[in-house]
Amino acid sequence: MAKLNFGGTEENVVTREEFPLSKAQQVLKNETVAVIGYGVQGPGQALNQRDNGINVIVGQRKDSKTWDKAIRDGFVPGETLFEIEEALQRGTIICYLLSDAAQIALWPTVKKHLTPGKALYFSHGFGITFNEQTGIVPPKDVDVFLVAPKGSGTSLRRMFLQGRGLNSSYAIFQDATGKAFERVAALGIAVGSGYLFETDFKKEVYSDLTGERGTLMGAIQGIFAAQYQVLRDKGHSPSEAFNETVEELTQSLMPLVAENGMDWMYGNCSTTAQRGALDWWKKFRDATAPVFKELYESVATGKESQRSIDSNSKADYREKLEEELKELRESELWQTGKTVRSLRPENQKPAIAGDATSSTKEVFRKQALKEESVG
Ligand SMILES: NC(=O)c1ccc[n+]([C@@H]2O[C@H](COP(=O)([O-])OP(=O)(O)OC[C@H]3O[C@@H](n4cnc5c(N)ncnc54)[C@H](OP(=O)(O)O)[C@@H]3O)[C@@H](O)[C@H]2O)c1
Repeated sequence: MAKLNFGGTEENVVTREEFPLSKAQQVLKNETVAVIGYGVQGPGQALNQRDNGINVIVGQRKDSKTWDKAIRDGFVPGETLFEIEEALQRGTIICYLLSDAAQIALWPTVKKHLTPGKALYFSHGFGITFNEQTGIVPPKDVDVFLVAPKGSGTSLRRMFLQGRGLNSSYAIFQDATGKAFERVAALGIAVGSGYLFETDFKKEVYSDLTGERGTLMGAIQGIFAAQYQVLRDKGHSPSEAFNETVEELTQSLMPLVAENGMDWMYGNCSTTAQRGALDWWKKFRDATAPVFKELYESVATGKESQRSIDSNSKADYREKLEEELKELRESELWQTGKTVRSLRPENQKPAIAGDATSSTKEVFRKQALKEESVG
């Protein structure tokens, strides 16, 4: 396994060079990979594996829009698409990709079909790590591992079709067959990972829950809301407050950070901006560090997982979620965002029929969309 230096720390990494697709196909040639659940990760992982020549079947409850989606994606009932229990019985590797709440409900059924030598695969450490809350305790004679793509199933599929690859973490919880590593590495490559870095179940779920509550989703909205409100309270217009809080970040700066890092972005903006950013970032770090510590504790003590299980298994979960999303959507900040997005040139409809400039733009826009969908 390759060892790479990440900022001074050596870590184990599985790369496509070291573990090419041909090797993954070889390792998986006698396996039936049953992808259980066809929500967000299910389609990405099942379709990528199918296109990579792996023997993959889907297990999905029938009479559901999701079942129809699997058919639209080319899975054939009775051949490659089955009711969950039949797929569990046919699969030698069970990719357990139901929502985390549904995994708890379906566990007794899954457990029944975990005969010796099979493998149980997750894309999250949740069910195993918080087993006192989930009841998910696998039998000792099966392999248990995870591949957790670091992004949405939609991105996993999109990047695969573009010839790119999302990175994923992998972890082995139980190696009953002595082949857990080659099985998990092969699956990681087959689902379309660009490379895989090593973790364990507990670290995967602790970092994931912290990240999504923190900088990836929770903290970022909190910081947006705070800065926007201060600017509005001081008399700035909504469009100005939004542009200086969100639009410039998502449209201009973050793509540069993604490509070249924060120091490069600081080094390539105005001297006034870089002086201010260098003076203020540590203040924000120190102000938010106690909140991140509190968040990590809440994850590590199982409070976050319990809250997630309790709220996600309620019958009115979808309704309550919609109310909370509506509050965000109808806030002045995101209503302003809607108008700002509509003003982006690429989102504008041609103003007047026959207007040479707008119709030329429309031709370019259509051309770009065509290229994107082909890519
Ligand atoms: N979302 C992501 O991009 C992402 C990223 C990394 C890791 N993960 C992990 O991947 C796993 C799957 O996540 P996901 O977001 O793809 O899940 P999801 O979209 O929430 O899963 C929905 C699937 O679960 C089925 N389902 C829900 N309740 C069910 C029940 N009571 N009985 C039977 N089937 C039921 C749905 O069928 P119906 O449509 O018929 O309800 C559908 O197939 C999770 O462990 C998650 O943490 C997800």
